Order: sequence, then C-alpha cells, then structure tokens
Amino acid sequence: MRILGIETSCDETGIAIYDDQDGLLAHQLYSQVKLHADYGGVVPELASRDHSRKIISLIRQTLKEANCTKDDIDGVAYTAGPGLVGALLVGASVGRSLAYAWDKPAVAVHHMEGHLLAPMLEENKPDFPFLALLVSGGHTQMVRVDGIGRYTLLGESVDDAAGEAFDKTAKLLGLDYPGGPRLAKMAEMGDSSRFTFPRPMTNKPGLDFSFSGLKTFAANTIRDNSVDGVCDPQTQADIARAFEDAVVDTLAIKCKRALKETGLKRLVIAGGVSANSHLRIELEKLMVGRGGKVFYPRHEFCADNGAMIAYAGMQRLKANQTVGLEISATPRWPMDTLPAV
Ligand code: KG4
Ligand code: ZN
Repeated sequence: MRILGIETSCDETGIAIYDDQDGLLAHQLYSQVKLHADYGGVVPELASRDHSRKIISLIRQTLKEANCTKDDIDGVAYTAGPGLVGALLVGASVGRSLAYAWDKPAVAVHHMEGHLLAPMLEENKPDFPFLALLVSGGHTQMVRVDGIGRYTLLGESVDDAAGEAFDKTAKLLGLDYPGGPRLAKMAEMGDSSRFTFPRPMTNKPGLDFSFSGLKTFAANTIRDNSVDGVCDPQTQADIARAFEDAVVDTLAIKCKRALKETGLKRLVIAGGVSANSHLRIELEKLMVGRGGKVFYPRHEFCADNGAMIAYAGMQRLKANQTVGLEISATPRWPMDTLPAV
C-alpha cells in the first residue's frame, strides 16, 4: 500500500510518498523561511498563500521522484491540525480534493503524532512502550506511548514551547528568524561558566515545563551586560550558551523524572528542537547511564516534513481510520483524544 502525505501546518510545505513494504519512496520540502525572515516570525496569511503557490508542483515532483502515478496511490494523508488554520486549510483542501478526484480514502493526520512517529522512519526504531519528549516551535510535551494512538500526556509547557523560547531569545540576541538553530550555533562559542540561568519548575514535583521566564532572564542579562544596548560578541555567545544549557538541563531533568516514574527504558525525542546536538548528547548520556536507549529522527525529519505525515497516515489508513468528504482543519487538537490503532 502507498500513501501520499501532505504537511502545511506552518511554514514548510512537505510532501512524501510512503510504501508500507518499501518505506519512504520520495519526499520534497519547501521552506518559507526567507519569506518570513523580514518580519521576524511566521506571517499566517503569507504562509497560506505560499503553500497554495507551491503545493501542486511539489506533489507532481514527489510523484515523479517516486516513479508513481495516481493509480499507484492508495490514500491521501493530510495534516489536519494543530497549526495555523489558513495554512492547514491549504493542505487539507488539496489533500481531500485529490483523494476525491482519485477515488481514494483520505486520512486526517495529527501533526504532533507525525513528529512522535518520525523516528519510525529510521532503521533504528523504538519498540512500544516508550517515553516521548516532543519539543517543537509550538509544543513541549512529555508523553507515555503504549502504541499508536495510545498516548498519555504526562506533562507540557504551561507557557512558551521550548522552540518558541529559543526563537524569542535569539531575537533578543539580534539573530534572524528562525533563531533556534542560529542561537545553538552561537552557543558553541560561549563559555558555560560565565552566566547561570534558572532551571524552571525543576524544584517542584511534576512534569510540566515553563520556558517564558528564561526569555525574560535573557533580556535582563543582555541589559546588564551591554553598552548602549549592545553586547560584545563573546558576551552574546556566553548568554546563548547559558540559555541553551538551561533549556537542555531542564528537559533532561524532566526526562529523568519521567523515566523514573514510568520505569520506561526507551526515550524518543522529536520535533524541531530535537535537532539540537547539545540536547541529543545530554539525553544520550542520561539513557546510557540508565541502561536505556534514545531514538530520534534523522536531522531533516526533526522539523516539519511530509514524510512523518505519510508514515502516520499509513498507520491510520491500515486501521481504516479514514475521514469523510469534509475538509478537516483543527487548529487546536489534543493528541490524547486520538483513537488507538
Ligand atoms: O517542529 P518544528 O519544525 O515546527 C513546529 O511544529 O513548531 O520546530 C521548529 C522549532 C523552531 O522553534 C526552531 O527554532 C527550533 O525548532 N529548532 C531548534 C533547532 N533547530 C530547530 N532549536 C534549538 N536548536 C536547534 N538546533
Ligand atoms: Zn512541527
């Protein structure tokens, strides 16, 4: 069986074809980063328009790359939420219409389930059950995963997501959008011992996160260490390093706590921030120390992409969890309401 996957929830147009026997056959990604850079963040209306401009040609290219025609496709999966409603509607209406025209079933995929299952596209994939740390621009969640659709939310951010905190702090440091990877690069030059940022919510029990205070802490540190509002490059790097250390350490402390509480031995990290090498190294260390194992997607599938949507869509298609003729777009959609497979 083969499925076409469509992702348009934010600022990447991602298209992929996944075969349940042969795996991923083709994938294409168009990033709108340049379009939004001038505005310092994603402009929803521009995102929707750009998805509309690119989506059809990307679908054509992906079919060509996979050497497929519409007759080889058994279903169409599209991201139905969570995300920006206008952006979601582009992928949902194209996906639903293609499925109708091709007389194939349509599957409405949950974007965070896509991220969660992205490590399943790798050779080294986790068995169930596992603990998942989902760290993206919009979400930070700790989830117990007992199977596909068997998700228990153990904790989440009460304010900013980890990626959002990276982006906002990067902006304070004068870095262009998207700041997360740029801040991480800058932190490589930083001295860990110069500033110490708090590890929010780690001295209270529980698995929730709070990252908005770190951005304020960074703003104050920049103010106190600048001349006429400008920090020298080494100070900027030291602040970036202290910020990254604090986020990584906080995530690692919460993972350790969740592993202890659940007794799980496998940890998945996924979402844009899972590309952060410092985070990967710390979580590897944590799991080696506990006799467990950590799993993550390859770098290009950490951030938004069509491959993870095609994979998640295939699992739902095989379970006959398809949707009707409606164009489904759900900007807010708790993942633990998904049905089990
Ligand atoms: O999963 P994703 O592509 O989009 C959402 O679903 O939100 O995640 C994007 C987020 C952005 O906030 C970006 O700055 C962050 O992931 N990110 C990083 C790194 N690469 C991407 N944050 C820290 N370090 C990185 N290397
Ligand atoms: Zn995402």
